[in-house]
Amino acid sequence: MGLGSYLPPRKVSNADVAARLDTTDEWIRTRIGIAARHIADPATATSDLAVEAALRAMKSAEVEHVDVVILATATPDHHVPGTAPLVAHRLGLRQVPAFDLGAGCSGFVYATTVAAGLIHAGTASTVMVIGAEKMSAVIDPADRSTAPIFGDGAGAVVLAAGRADEPGALGPAAWGSDGEHADAIYIPGGGSRNPSRATADLKNRYVHMKGNEVFRHAVRRITHVTEESAAAAGWAIQDIDRLIVHQANARISVAVANTLGIPPERVPSNITHVGNTSAASIPLLLSHSAINGQLKPRQRVVVTSFGAGFTWAATTLLWPIGLQVLA
Ligand code: UT7
Repeated sequence: MGLGSYLPPRKVSNADVAARLDTTDEWIRTRIGIAARHIADPATATSDLAVEAALRAMKSAEVEHVDVVILATATPDHHVPGTAPLVAHRLGLRQVPAFDLGAGCSGFVYATTVAAGLIHAGTASTVMVIGAEKMSAVIDPADRSTAPIFGDGAGAVVLAAGRADEPGALGPAAWGSDGEHADAIYIPGGGSRNPSRATADLKNRYVHMKGNEVFRHAVRRITHVTEESAAAAGWAIQDIDRLIVHQANARISVAVANTLGIPPERVPSNITHVGNTSAASIPLLLSHSAINGQLKPRQRVVVTSFGAGFTWAATTLLWPIGLQVLA
Protein backbone atom coordinates (compact mmCIF):
# COMPACT_ATOMS: atom_id res chain seq x y z
CA MET A 1 0.00 0.00 0.00
CA GLY A 2 1.09 3.57 -0.66
CA LEU A 3 -0.47 6.82 0.56
CA GLY A 4 0.15 10.41 -0.43
CA SER A 5 -1.61 13.75 -0.48
CA TYR A 6 -1.25 17.27 -1.77
CA LEU A 7 -2.68 20.66 -0.82
CA PRO A 8 -2.27 23.70 -3.05
CA PRO A 9 -0.06 26.21 -1.22
CA ARG A 10 -2.50 29.16 -0.96
CA LYS A 11 -4.32 29.22 2.38
CA VAL A 12 -7.52 31.25 2.72
CA SER A 13 -8.44 32.16 6.30
CA ASN A 14 -11.91 32.78 7.70
CA ALA A 15 -10.97 36.43 7.93
CA ASP A 16 -10.36 36.43 4.15
CA VAL A 17 -13.80 34.83 3.61
CA ALA A 18 -15.53 37.19 6.04
CA ALA A 19 -13.99 40.19 4.27
CA ARG A 20 -16.18 39.52 1.21
CA LEU A 21 -19.20 37.71 2.69
CA ASP A 22 -21.84 38.33 5.38
CA THR A 23 -20.25 35.89 7.84
CA THR A 24 -17.75 35.82 10.68
CA ASP A 25 -14.71 33.82 11.75
CA GLU A 26 -16.61 32.85 14.88
CA TRP A 27 -19.66 31.52 12.97
CA ILE A 28 -17.50 29.43 10.64
CA ARG A 29 -15.41 28.01 13.51
CA THR A 30 -18.34 27.15 15.78
CA ARG A 31 -20.89 25.97 13.17
CA ILE A 32 -18.49 24.11 10.84
CA GLY A 33 -15.16 23.79 12.68
CA ILE A 34 -13.08 25.38 9.93
CA ALA A 35 -10.35 28.01 10.41
CA ALA A 36 -8.83 27.92 6.90
CA ARG A 37 -8.92 26.06 3.61
CA HIS A 38 -6.45 25.68 0.73
CA ILE A 39 -7.55 27.16 -2.59
CA ALA A 40 -5.85 26.38 -5.90
CA ASP A 41 -4.74 29.18 -8.20
CA PRO A 42 -6.85 29.77 -11.33
CA ALA A 43 -4.26 28.06 -13.55
CA THR A 44 -4.35 24.85 -11.48
CA ALA A 45 -6.90 22.17 -12.42
CA THR A 46 -8.05 19.04 -10.60
CA SER A 47 -5.67 16.90 -12.68
CA ASP A 48 -2.70 18.95 -11.42
CA LEU A 49 -3.69 18.27 -7.80
CA ALA A 50 -4.33 14.59 -8.61
CA VAL A 51 -0.90 14.12 -10.23
CA GLU A 52 0.88 15.59 -7.21
CA ALA A 53 -0.95 13.25 -4.80
CA ALA A 54 -0.53 10.23 -7.09
CA LEU A 55 3.23 10.78 -7.43
CA ARG A 56 3.53 10.82 -3.65
CA ALA A 57 1.43 7.64 -3.33
CA MET A 58 3.59 5.83 -5.90
CA LYS A 59 6.73 6.89 -4.09
CA SER A 60 5.19 5.78 -0.79
CA ALA A 61 4.31 2.39 -2.31
CA GLU A 62 7.75 2.20 -4.00
CA VAL A 63 6.17 1.37 -7.36
CA GLU A 64 6.62 2.87 -10.81
CA HIS A 65 3.61 1.20 -12.37
CA VAL A 66 -0.01 0.45 -11.48
CA ASP A 67 -2.52 -1.59 -13.48
CA VAL A 68 -5.52 0.76 -13.20
CA VAL A 69 -6.14 4.41 -12.24
CA ILE A 70 -9.48 5.44 -10.71
CA LEU A 71 -10.02 9.14 -10.04
CA ALA A 72 -12.87 10.07 -7.70
CA THR A 73 -13.91 13.64 -8.35
CA ALA A 74 -16.89 15.95 -8.69
CA THR A 75 -14.75 18.59 -10.37
CA PRO A 76 -13.15 17.00 -13.46
CA ASP A 77 -11.00 19.21 -15.69
CA HIS A 78 -13.65 18.89 -18.45
CA HIS A 79 -16.96 17.08 -18.99
CA VAL A 80 -15.21 15.21 -21.81
CA PRO A 81 -12.83 13.45 -21.69
CA GLY A 82 -12.54 11.97 -18.22
CA THR A 83 -9.65 13.37 -16.18
CA ALA A 84 -8.14 10.00 -15.15
CA PRO A 85 -6.59 9.18 -18.57
CA LEU A 86 -4.81 12.54 -18.54
CA VAL A 87 -3.55 11.90 -15.02
CA ALA A 88 -2.36 8.40 -16.00
CA HIS A 89 -0.56 9.87 -19.01
CA ARG A 90 1.17 12.47 -16.87
CA LEU A 91 2.24 9.73 -14.46
CA GLY A 92 3.89 7.92 -17.38
CA LEU A 93 1.27 5.13 -17.32
CA ARG A 94 -0.07 5.83 -20.78
CA GLN A 95 -1.65 2.49 -21.69
CA VAL A 96 -3.40 1.63 -18.43
CA PRO A 97 -7.19 1.69 -18.02
CA ALA A 98 -8.13 4.94 -16.29
CA PHE A 99 -11.55 6.34 -15.47
CA ASP A 100 -13.32 8.92 -13.33
CA LEU A 101 -15.80 7.95 -10.64
CA GLY A 102 -18.46 10.42 -9.53
CA ALA A 103 -20.09 9.76 -6.17
CA GLY A 104 -19.70 13.18 -4.55
CA CYS A 105 -17.92 13.17 -1.21
CA SER A 106 -18.28 9.36 -1.05
CA GLY A 107 -16.31 9.02 -4.29
CA PHE A 108 -13.03 7.96 -2.73
CA VAL A 109 -14.54 5.14 -0.63
CA TYR A 110 -16.66 4.05 -3.62
CA ALA A 111 -13.47 3.97 -5.72
CA THR A 112 -11.52 1.90 -3.18
CA THR A 113 -14.44 -0.55 -3.17
CA VAL A 114 -14.28 -0.85 -6.95
CA ALA A 115 -10.49 -1.22 -6.76
CA ALA A 116 -10.73 -3.99 -4.16
CA GLY A 117 -13.24 -5.76 -6.42
CA LEU A 118 -10.88 -5.55 -9.40
CA ILE A 119 -8.07 -7.00 -7.28
CA HIS A 120 -10.26 -9.80 -5.87
CA ALA A 121 -11.43 -10.69 -9.40
CA GLY A 122 -7.83 -10.93 -10.59
CA THR A 123 -8.39 -8.13 -13.13
CA ALA A 124 -5.63 -6.01 -11.59
CA SER A 125 -2.93 -6.51 -9.00
CA THR A 126 -2.22 -2.84 -8.27
CA VAL A 127 -4.76 0.00 -8.44
CA MET A 128 -4.20 3.71 -7.93
CA VAL A 129 -7.21 5.37 -6.29
CA ILE A 130 -7.17 9.16 -6.24
CA GLY A 131 -9.61 11.61 -4.67
CA ALA A 132 -9.02 15.09 -6.07
CA GLU A 133 -11.11 18.24 -6.11
CA LYS A 134 -10.90 21.83 -7.16
CA MET A 135 -14.10 22.73 -5.33
CA SER A 136 -13.31 26.42 -5.69
CA ALA A 137 -14.14 26.03 -9.41
CA VAL A 138 -17.79 25.21 -8.61
CA ILE A 139 -18.43 27.29 -5.49
CA ASP A 140 -20.16 30.65 -5.72
CA PRO A 141 -17.84 33.08 -3.89
CA ALA A 142 -20.94 35.14 -2.99
CA ASP A 143 -22.87 32.24 -1.38
CA ARG A 144 -22.29 32.18 2.35
CA SER A 145 -23.94 28.76 2.68
CA THR A 146 -21.18 27.06 0.63
CA ALA A 147 -18.18 29.39 0.22
CA PRO A 148 -16.86 29.07 3.81
CA ILE A 149 -17.10 25.27 3.72
CA PHE A 150 -15.25 23.88 0.73
CA GLY A 151 -11.54 23.65 -0.07
CA ASP A 152 -9.25 22.15 -2.73
CA GLY A 153 -6.81 19.25 -2.45
CA ALA A 154 -6.01 15.67 -3.37
CA GLY A 155 -5.03 12.36 -1.83
CA ALA A 156 -4.18 8.98 -3.32
CA VAL A 157 -3.56 5.38 -2.37
CA VAL A 158 -1.95 2.51 -4.23
CA LEU A 159 -3.74 -0.74 -3.37
CA ALA A 160 -2.05 -4.05 -4.09
CA ALA A 161 -3.07 -7.71 -4.09
CA GLY A 162 -2.29 -9.56 -0.88
CA ARG A 163 -3.79 -11.71 1.85
CA ALA A 164 -7.25 -10.71 3.09
CA ASP A 165 -6.11 -10.79 6.72
CA GLU A 166 -2.91 -8.75 6.37
CA PRO A 167 -2.70 -5.15 7.65
CA GLY A 168 -3.62 -2.75 4.84
CA ALA A 169 -6.14 -5.11 3.22
CA LEU A 170 -9.59 -3.58 2.84
CA GLY A 171 -12.41 -5.35 4.62
CA PRO A 172 -15.94 -5.72 3.28
CA ALA A 173 -17.54 -2.48 2.12
CA ALA A 174 -20.97 -1.17 3.04
CA TRP A 175 -22.35 1.34 0.56
CA GLY A 176 -25.55 2.79 -0.81
CA SER A 177 -27.34 5.69 -2.44
CA ASP A 178 -30.68 7.51 -2.43
CA GLY A 179 -31.41 9.61 -5.49
CA GLU A 180 -34.59 10.95 -3.94
CA HIS A 181 -32.33 13.65 -2.50
CA ALA A 182 -30.48 14.39 -5.74
CA ASP A 183 -31.19 18.11 -5.43
CA ALA A 184 -29.90 18.45 -1.85
CA ILE A 185 -26.34 19.05 -3.15
CA TYR A 186 -26.24 19.77 -6.86
CA ILE A 187 -25.06 21.91 -9.73
CA PRO A 188 -28.26 22.71 -11.64
CA GLY A 189 -26.72 23.60 -15.00
CA GLY A 190 -24.09 22.50 -17.45
CA GLY A 191 -25.31 18.90 -17.76
CA SER A 192 -27.75 17.29 -20.20
CA ARG A 193 -30.78 18.22 -18.04
CA ASN A 194 -30.17 21.90 -18.20
CA PRO A 195 -27.48 22.89 -20.67
CA SER A 196 -28.90 26.16 -21.98
CA ARG A 197 -29.96 27.90 -18.77
CA ALA A 198 -26.50 27.17 -17.47
CA THR A 199 -24.77 29.27 -20.05
CA ALA A 200 -27.29 32.05 -19.51
CA ASP A 201 -26.95 32.09 -15.75
CA LEU A 202 -23.59 31.59 -14.07
CA LYS A 203 -25.24 30.71 -10.75
CA ASN A 204 -26.47 27.46 -12.30
CA ARG A 205 -22.85 26.37 -12.67
CA TYR A 206 -22.30 26.54 -8.91
CA VAL A 207 -23.01 24.03 -6.13
CA HIS A 208 -26.39 24.56 -4.46
CA MET A 209 -26.75 22.88 -1.07
CA LYS A 210 -29.62 22.45 1.39
CA GLY A 211 -27.19 22.42 4.30
CA ASN A 212 -29.61 21.55 7.06
CA GLU A 213 -31.18 18.63 5.21
CA VAL A 214 -27.74 17.31 4.23
CA PHE A 215 -26.53 17.59 7.81
CA ARG A 216 -29.37 15.48 9.21
CA HIS A 217 -29.04 12.75 6.58
CA ALA A 218 -25.24 12.75 6.88
CA VAL A 219 -25.32 12.01 10.62
CA ARG A 220 -27.89 9.21 10.18
CA ARG A 221 -26.29 7.58 7.14
CA ILE A 222 -22.68 7.80 8.35
CA THR A 223 -23.69 6.29 11.69
CA HIS A 224 -25.56 3.44 10.04
CA VAL A 225 -23.01 2.63 7.31
CA THR A 226 -20.24 2.62 9.95
CA GLU A 227 -22.20 0.06 11.98
CA GLU A 228 -22.81 -2.04 8.86
CA SER A 229 -19.18 -2.01 7.82
CA ALA A 230 -17.85 -2.83 11.30
CA ALA A 231 -20.38 -5.67 11.66
CA ALA A 232 -19.38 -7.09 8.25
CA ALA A 233 -15.76 -7.18 9.47
CA GLY A 234 -16.85 -8.91 12.68
CA TRP A 235 -15.97 -5.89 14.85
CA ALA A 236 -18.01 -4.42 17.68
CA ILE A 237 -18.18 -0.61 17.75
CA GLN A 238 -15.92 -0.62 20.85
CA ASP A 239 -13.29 -2.46 18.76
CA ILE A 240 -12.83 0.54 16.44
CA ASP A 241 -9.48 2.20 17.24
CA ARG A 242 -9.86 5.02 14.68
CA LEU A 243 -12.96 6.30 12.89
CA ILE A 244 -11.99 8.24 9.77
CA VAL A 245 -15.05 10.35 8.92
CA HIS A 246 -15.49 12.46 5.79
CA GLN A 247 -14.64 16.02 6.87
CA ALA A 248 -17.92 17.77 5.99
CA ASN A 249 -18.58 19.59 9.25
CA ALA A 250 -16.90 19.01 12.63
CA ARG A 251 -20.34 18.82 14.22
CA ILE A 252 -21.28 15.89 11.96
CA SER A 253 -18.25 13.88 13.14
CA VAL A 254 -19.00 14.71 16.79
CA ALA A 255 -22.67 13.72 16.40
CA VAL A 256 -21.71 10.41 14.75
CA ALA A 257 -19.11 9.63 17.43
CA ASN A 258 -21.57 10.48 20.22
CA THR A 259 -24.33 8.35 18.70
CA LEU A 260 -21.98 5.39 18.31
CA GLY A 261 -20.33 5.92 21.72
CA ILE A 262 -16.84 6.31 20.25
CA PRO A 263 -14.52 8.55 22.34
CA PRO A 264 -13.45 11.76 20.53
CA GLU A 265 -9.75 10.87 20.69
CA ARG A 266 -10.48 7.95 18.35
CA VAL A 267 -11.96 10.27 15.70
CA PRO A 268 -9.14 12.22 14.02
CA SER A 269 -9.96 15.47 12.24
CA ASN A 270 -8.22 17.92 9.92
CA ILE A 271 -11.21 20.03 8.83
CA THR A 272 -9.87 23.03 10.78
CA HIS A 273 -7.00 23.40 8.31
CA VAL A 274 -8.41 22.02 5.04
CA GLY A 275 -12.21 22.50 5.07
CA ASN A 276 -14.47 20.11 3.19
CA THR A 277 -12.53 18.78 0.21
CA SER A 278 -15.26 16.43 -1.02
CA ALA A 279 -13.75 13.27 -2.61
CA ALA A 280 -10.25 14.30 -1.45
CA SER A 281 -11.32 14.51 2.18
CA ILE A 282 -10.76 10.89 3.24
CA PRO A 283 -7.30 10.35 1.71
CA LEU A 284 -6.18 13.75 3.01
CA LEU A 285 -7.34 12.83 6.51
CA LEU A 286 -5.71 9.38 6.31
CA SER A 287 -2.49 10.96 5.18
CA HIS A 288 -2.45 13.74 7.81
CA SER A 289 -3.50 11.37 10.62
CA ALA A 290 -0.74 8.90 9.71
CA ILE A 291 1.88 11.65 9.60
CA ASN A 292 0.87 13.12 12.96
CA GLY A 293 0.90 9.69 14.63
CA GLN A 294 -2.85 9.25 15.07
CA LEU A 295 -2.86 6.12 12.90
CA LYS A 296 -0.60 3.31 14.07
CA PRO A 297 0.17 -0.16 12.68
CA ARG A 298 -2.53 -2.81 13.23
CA GLN A 299 -5.11 -0.36 14.58
CA ARG A 300 -8.66 -1.24 13.55
CA VAL A 301 -9.78 1.59 11.28
CA VAL A 302 -13.21 2.33 9.81
CA VAL A 303 -13.32 4.80 6.93
CA THR A 304 -16.77 6.32 6.38
CA SER A 305 -18.30 8.94 4.10
CA PHE A 306 -21.46 10.62 2.83
CA GLY A 307 -22.17 13.04 0.03
CA ALA A 308 -24.10 14.27 -2.98
CA GLY A 309 -26.46 11.78 -4.53
CA PHE A 310 -27.07 11.03 -1.71
CA THR A 311 -24.30 8.44 -1.53
CA TRP A 312 -22.63 6.82 1.46
CA ALA A 313 -19.91 4.21 1.93
CA ALA A 314 -17.67 2.69 4.59
CA THR A 315 -14.94 0.10 4.73
CA THR A 316 -12.53 -1.31 7.29
CA LEU A 317 -8.82 -2.04 7.44
CA LEU A 318 -6.05 -2.79 9.88
CA TRP A 319 -3.59 0.08 9.56
CA PRO A 320 -0.55 -1.17 7.61
CA ILE A 321 2.91 -1.73 9.06
CA GLY A 322 5.83 0.41 7.85
CA LEU A 323 3.80 2.73 5.61
CA GLN A 324 5.80 5.86 4.63
CA VAL A 325 3.20 8.54 3.94
CA LEU A 326 4.11 11.56 1.85
CA ALA A 327 2.25 14.89 1.97
O1 UT7 B 1 -19.62 17.16 1.97
C1 UT7 B 1 -20.89 16.94 1.46
C2 UT7 B 1 -21.85 16.95 2.52
N1 UT7 B 1 -22.03 18.30 3.02
C3 UT7 B 1 -22.34 18.43 4.27
O2 UT7 B 1 -22.40 17.46 4.97
C4 UT7 B 1 -22.74 19.82 4.78
C5 UT7 B 1 -23.77 19.62 5.84
N2 UT7 B 1 -24.36 20.86 6.34
C6 UT7 B 1 -23.69 21.70 7.13
O3 UT7 B 1 -22.52 21.51 7.40
C7 UT7 B 1 -24.45 22.85 7.74
O4 UT7 B 1 -25.83 22.66 7.52
C8 UT7 B 1 -24.02 24.22 7.21
C9 UT7 B 1 -22.62 24.56 7.70
C10 UT7 B 1 -24.07 24.26 5.70
C11 UT7 B 1 -24.97 25.29 7.76
O5 UT7 B 1 -24.97 25.23 9.20
P1 UT7 B 1 -26.35 25.19 9.98
O6 UT7 B 1 -26.00 25.22 11.39
O7 UT7 B 1 -27.12 24.02 9.46
O8 UT7 B 1 -26.98 26.58 9.59
P2 UT7 B 1 -28.44 26.86 9.02
O9 UT7 B 1 -28.43 26.70 7.54
O10 UT7 B 1 -29.48 26.15 9.81
O11 UT7 B 1 -28.56 28.39 9.37
C12 UT7 B 1 -28.59 28.83 10.73
C13 UT7 B 1 -28.46 30.35 10.74
C14 UT7 B 1 -29.40 31.02 9.76
O12 UT7 B 1 -29.81 32.26 10.34
P3 UT7 B 1 -31.24 32.40 11.05
O13 UT7 B 1 -32.24 32.05 10.00
O14 UT7 B 1 -31.21 31.42 12.18
O15 UT7 B 1 -31.25 33.83 11.48
C15 UT7 B 1 -28.52 31.29 8.57
O16 UT7 B 1 -28.98 32.38 7.80
O17 UT7 B 1 -27.15 30.70 10.34
C16 UT7 B 1 -27.22 31.59 9.23
N3 UT7 B 1 -26.07 31.33 8.37
C17 UT7 B 1 -24.91 31.98 8.51
N4 UT7 B 1 -24.53 32.95 9.35
C18 UT7 B 1 -23.26 33.41 9.23
C19 UT7 B 1 -25.95 30.43 7.38
N5 UT7 B 1 -24.72 30.47 6.85
C20 UT7 B 1 -24.06 31.43 7.53
C21 UT7 B 1 -22.75 31.95 7.46
N6 UT7 B 1 -22.40 32.93 8.33
N7 UT7 B 1 -21.84 31.50 6.58
